[in-house]
Amino acid sequence: MFDKNFYRDETLTGKTSEISFRAYRNVPYVKNPSAPDLQVINIFIPRAYIDGRAINGYTAETAPIFFPNGIGGYMEAKPCSPYIREDGSFSTEAAALEHGYVVISAGARGRTTQRDGVYVGKAPACICDLKAAVRFVKSIAGEICGDVNKIISNGTSAGGAMSALLGASGNSALFEPYLEEMGAEKGSDGIFAASCYCPITNLENADMAYEWQYGHLPDQHWHKWEQCGDSFKVTPMHTALTDEQRKLSAELAGRFPNYLNSIKPDGLTLDEKGEGSFKEYVKEMVLKSAQSVGDVPRESGIDLEAGTVDFERYCAYITRMKAPCAFDNPDMYTPENELFGSKTVNKRHFTDFGATFGGECAESEQVRLMNAMNFVGNDGCAKHWRIRHGAADRDTSFAISAMLERCLTAQGRDVDYFLPWGVPHSGDYDLDELFAWIDGIAR
Ligand code: DHB
Repeated sequence: MFDKNFYRDETLTGKTSEISFRAYRNVPYVKNPSAPDLQVINIFIPRAYIDGRAINGYTAETAPIFFPNGIGGYMEAKPCSPYIREDGSFSTEAAALEHGYVVISAGARGRTTQRDGVYVGKAPACICDLKAAVRFVKSIAGEICGDVNKIISNGTSAGGAMSALLGASGNSALFEPYLEEMGAEKGSDGIFAASCYCPITNLENADMAYEWQYGHLPDQHWHKWEQCGDSFKVTPMHTALTDEQRKLSAELAGRFPNYLNSIKPDGLTLDEKGEGSFKEYVKEMVLKSAQSVGDVPRESGIDLEAGTVDFERYCAYITRMKAPCAFDNPDMYTPENELFGSKTVNKRHFTDFGATFGGECAESEQVRLMNAMNFVGNDGCAKHWRIRHGAADRDTSFAISAMLERCLTAQGRDVDYFLPWGVPHSGDYDLDELFAWIDGIAR
């Protein structure tokens, strides 16, 4: 399937420098694709390695493979490519090439992908696609540059969740039937490291976690997006929760300690009121974030001198974005309800709580296969992790990333976890630090 001689040599010129690389585009990674235009990878190799030169101490044999995915909102994604932004700066992929990484990106099916009137991208399609792509890359190791034992995945939000799941679930037998049906290569789909920006993971517990954090806040601050010709009009909205929503919030918040105590991340727990060592840990992370900037507004509820965080006040300061149920919604309007559809049903519930509202429900295996938490500590789980969750990010609770990090740490994985101050739901905003982390683990 891979033709080593079918490439283009390309150069991109940015504001301050240029990069030359060899590009293999749209290489199929499975034998039986259901969406052949999406189930392809792009491979980019810095020109220096073709010419036998080194970059940053890396060579054609030792260069890490940076594996970014372009998945957002659990939608389908084309494989990423390097490009120059309007302001002349390098995209993430271009910066990674300049830094000396081989860059490989996989396209993936998503929640709305349909072929011949059938949904082909419902869960777990997107993770199966990334796994098949990893296997394919390993199968052509001898024909490309880069060290296939140093694959570092990267993604943001839904893509961050997929990066986490790819990192955690390496070589899990549970995916084998799907991979076999797709015509994926045999062999390992484990990766070396996972970089995850604001991972929207642990979806079946995310409603409870959200209300544990925001349940005291009676209103929702969100943005209405309206198409206006070629652009969007974005209007800040401020809506009070209904009595019914407040009731749901209280019920969900009340269920969170049970879940948290069932996994006891690194021994941390909560009492029935949602107080306890786990909450103290999340507060500690928020305090660390504030300390990194040295000066924060009084309204944030953080007293740097005293070293204290009023968590309820801090959450009021950043505001609640989503209404309950934030993920498995009674009206099934969320991306996640669509993610857990079937070949023929677009939207389904995926939690016990959501099921009480009626309508179809996802199979438990479909839900289980999408949650990185279920694979943490497996033999094939990546050794190295970098998790970033902006301290102003309200798309999912801080508890979600904190539980992932604590469980990974408890399983002996090396995790670099931080909530960057003032950062909203976003990723790739600190490439110098990201690349320094990669160099630290890969060299
Ligand atoms: C994304 C954001 C969300 O709030 C969500 O629920 C799912 C995905 C995203 O940006 O990818």
